[in-house]
Amino acid sequence: MSRFRFKLAITFLIVCLNRNSLADAVQLQHNFSNLLGLSFRFYEAQMSGEVPSWSRASLVQGGWRNRSHTQDGFGPDGIGLSLSGGWYDSGDHLKISLPLGVTVSMLAYGALTWEESYRKAGQWDVAVQNLDWAASYLIKCHVNASDTPSENTFVAQVGDGGTDHNLYWGRPEQQPEGGVEGSTGWRPVYLLTAEQGKGGDIVSEAVAAMVGSALLLRRPGSFCNPQKADELLRRARQLFEFAKLLPNMWSPPAGHQAMYGSNRWHDDLTWAAAWLCRAAVETGVGGGAGTTAGTAACAEAASLWAAAADSDEYYRDAIVWAAVLPLASLLLRDMGAGGPAMVGRYEQHITYVLNRWISTTAQCNGTSPEFQVCYTPGGLAWYTGLGSARCAANVAMAALMSSRSNVSSAEVSKRQQQRRCWAWRQADYLLGGNSHRQSFVVGYAPTAYHSSPTRPVHKSSSCDSDYQVVCDWYALSAPGPNPNVLYGALVGGPDQTDGYQDSRSDFVKNEVALDYNAGFTGAMAGLVEVESLLQAGGCNWEGYCAGTCGTPADVGVFPEPSNCPVAPGEEPTCGAPAPPSPSPPPPPPSPRSPPSPFPPASPLPPPPSPQPPPSPPNPPDGLPTNSSGAPSMCRPYDAACRACSSNANITNATACGACVAVVRYMGRNPYLCHECAGYGVLDSDIQHMCQSECVPQTLTRGTAWACSLICANDRNVGTDLDLARQCVACVLGTTDGWACGRCIEATRCLTDWREARAQCFDCVTSGVLDALGCAECAAQATPAARMACMSCKGVQAGLTAGGLTTAH
Ligand SMILES: *[C@@H]1O[C@H](CO)[C@@H](O)[C@H](O)[C@H]1NC(C)=O
Ligand SMILES: *[C@@H]1O[C@H](CO)[C@@H](O)[C@H](O)[C@H]1NC(C)=O
Ligand SMILES: *[C@@H]1O[C@H](CO)[C@@H](O)[C@H](O)[C@H]1NC(C)=O
Ligand SMILES: *[C@@H]1O[C@H](CO)[C@@H](O)[C@H](O)[C@H]1NC(C)=O
Ligand SMILES: *[C@@H]1O[C@H](CO)[C@@H](O)[C@H](O)[C@H]1NC(C)=O
Ligand SMILES: *[C@@H]1O[C@H](CO)[C@@H](O)[C@H](O)[C@H]1NC(C)=O
Ligand SMILES: *[C@@H]1O[C@H](CO)[C@@H](O)[C@H](O)[C@H]1NC(C)=O
Ligand SMILES: *[C@@H]1O[C@H](CO)[C@@H](O)[C@H](O)[C@H]1NC(C)=O
Repeated sequence: MSRFRFKLAITFLIVCLNRNSLADAVQLQHNFSNLLGLSFRFYEAQMSGEVPSWSRASLVQGGWRNRSHTQDGFGPDGIGLSLSGGWYDSGDHLKISLPLGVTVSMLAYGALTWEESYRKAGQWDVAVQNLDWAASYLIKCHVNASDTPSENTFVAQVGDGGTDHNLYWGRPEQQPEGGVEGSTGWRPVYLLTAEQGKGGDIVSEAVAAMVGSALLLRRPGSFCNPQKADELLRRARQLFEFAKLLPNMWSPPAGHQAMYGSNRWHDDLTWAAAWLCRAAVETGVGGGAGTTAGTAACAEAASLWAAAADSDEYYRDAIVWAAVLPLASLLLRDMGAGGPAMVGRYEQHITYVLNRWISTTAQCNGTSPEFQVCYTPGGLAWYTGLGSARCAANVAMAALMSSRSNVSSAEVSKRQQQRRCWAWRQADYLLGGNSHRQSFVVGYAPTAYHSSPTRPVHKSSSCDSDYQVVCDWYALSAPGPNPNVLYGALVGGPDQTDGYQDSRSDFVKNEVALDYNAGFTGAMAGLVEVESLLQAGGCNWEGYCAGTCGTPADVGVFPEPSNCPVAPGEEPTCGAPAPPSPSPPPPPPSPRSPPSPFPPASPLPPPPSPQPPPSPPNPPDGLPTNSSGAPSMCRPYDAACRACSSNANITNATACGACVAVVRYMGRNPYLCHECAGYGVLDSDIQHMCQSECVPQTLTRGTAWACSLICANDRNVGTDLDLARQCVACVLGTTDGWACGRCIEATRCLTDWREARAQCFDCVTSGVLDALGCAECAAQATPAARMACMSCKGVQAGLTAGGLTTAH
């Protein structure tokens, strides 16, 4: 290949130009490495559940997000298992598995394809950590895992579209939970089962996503986790067989808003199969790493592809959440699946789709037909109104992927240049290189003369970061920009004539979504790679696209994978059987004797046995199950009420009295309130919290004893109100109060015991792992080892604890 050295004298041009015409006259410069990182910020803002402190949108990092919807999976129409975690789908608070799977698999494909660019841009760990987060949620969604295909179940959706869209605008953190149908807090869980026979598309996308994340987790990096990768691959294979039993599309039951009703599933199944082919090759099944020969998974993928390609599937020319065959063609081409003749067919399909985008000269005129590419006056390849930007971005990613080749010939170089430059121009348009100087990425404007969206349709970022400021439907129509910047989100995009309004009520042009950013992220990585090739060739975009200079040949389409080492001592014992459960713990401290007219002489019980069991009492018939009707103060002739004043350890008789009133009303032992001062805690705030925020809430669950014995215990919390609060949150989040105590015991001697304790509490309240499992993991020495242990064990122990089956 001939190379030219060519440099545009941009710098000289700039000084001669009027500043305001700068953007029009000179090619914009974008830092694609930077944009790659920015795009993941959007995903971090979409996190649901126990939002970790590494999320750049979290409160602790100066953002606005905190824990939300941690009770997903429980409550009316739940499954009694935790589905906390994952990503919200769009500007709403639903968690929808189909677009989630498409997104994760596309992000993973981009990261694997451009691994080197990701690493050079410093974004590899960012990508892996984010996809690991999403994968953890997909594991939870795989509720019943079995090698018998029909025994699997998978979560299709959490939340109801009608409820979420019509009844609530506000922070996810403040949305009620556990509500019944018709209330804002209703979060039904929709399960896919073999019996219903629907949702093959959804399950297939989960397979693709699990394999994609697994292959990332197998590679070197801070979040490398081969055990988890193996777990994901095992589940993916189970789900792939399950998907074949579901040859119909799933959508929420009639009467509720249908979200993402797909109309095909063969493309998804083929995409899943293509990933399993790649996994087989990378893990050395059937012929060793790097070869597809003899790999049954690749043969199956090739034949599924052929079946899909023989249908009208072949002629669908978009790449979106509902249409992924072109991606499967790319991945199978990378793998050489089915041999050279099949590779030729994949290439043909890719070329067919790209030509529909790149070769058309149709100009949009405002009423041009949808679902057929035309060019806006400003140069965007426009396909459909809803999310025009992501359609172009997804194809840009595919164009960049398809142009990777280690073959150097004039023909290949010409095609490469055409596809890469097309992708670059589309990306440039989306980043602000258009006549309106409008970027479609929130928080990104290439110059001071450019605008970027400030009012994306997104409930969470439309609220003030101060949680005290009420956020409701008014925020939807409030005039100013969203108070929080949803960095990195690609919005819907312009209409056929480049028209766009930055309006929070325009969900067509200004909503955001997981799948919108998926291809965009990959495209940024692809552009990083091409740009570095251009640099190596002494070229730049303008010169390359004008045909005046070129790049050296690529390194190849399918670099050899390198596996991450397993650090000694950090290896969780995934394969080992779970420890036997201990013999049933002894009975709890016997409840106090019923109130006598006089306070008991010695209000403290004998020291409790170390493992009081949670035994939730059956609520006595006729007693209230909540405190909503309780009087605000105890009756002064009540002995327990009077003892609030006479007990010298009780620092606030008023708070104690209010507690007694509630406990009396609910027919339980009122000295539970006194015990908040019973274990050496003389701090009035902690006592108060124990009496007002813990005891009443835990009465009907039989865990009220844990409020004092564990969380208002000098030995455990000292005078640290934050520690006490964390502990109370743990007790409130579990029916096994002693689990919180185990956490404290297990982590007492660690140097970073605070963090370990918090990790353990999260483990306990997530409900996936039992107390023993959480405590055992929490005793490990480093945060990473603890986390790895929990995610690994959670899969086994959690499902077993829930009475469900896992097959190995
Ligand atoms: C692009 O951004 C990255 C940070 O994301 C930075 O390290 C790099 O220096 C930037 N490149 C240029 C040319 O400014
Ligand atoms: C996040 O929420 C938790 C529990 O609701 C709360 O204790 C904590 O203070 C919040 N974090 C921040 C930084 O406000
Ligand atoms: C726009 O183009 C379409 C064909 O792409 C044509 O059918 C339609 O009449 C045109 N509309 C106008 C207003 O020119
Ligand atoms: C290109 O890559 C393929 C697949 O990795 C390989 O078989 C082939 O030998 C490579 N060709 C060249 C010229 O490097
Ligand atoms: C509390 O219980 C009463 C009946 O004892 C019931 O009417 C009311 O709806 C309950 N309130 C809540 C918030 O559950
Ligand atoms: C005592 O508790 C009451 C509420 O129960 C509260 O209003 C008051 O501020 C508390 N007093 C002190 C000194 O903490
Ligand atoms: C008060 O607390 C101390 C420990 O700080 C304890 O020994 C004593 O028994 C408590 N008294 C009452 C009445 O609870
Ligand atoms: C999951 O498996 C368990 C145990 O085999 C079974 O009882 C349960 O019904 C299954 N759940 C679903 C939703 O099929």
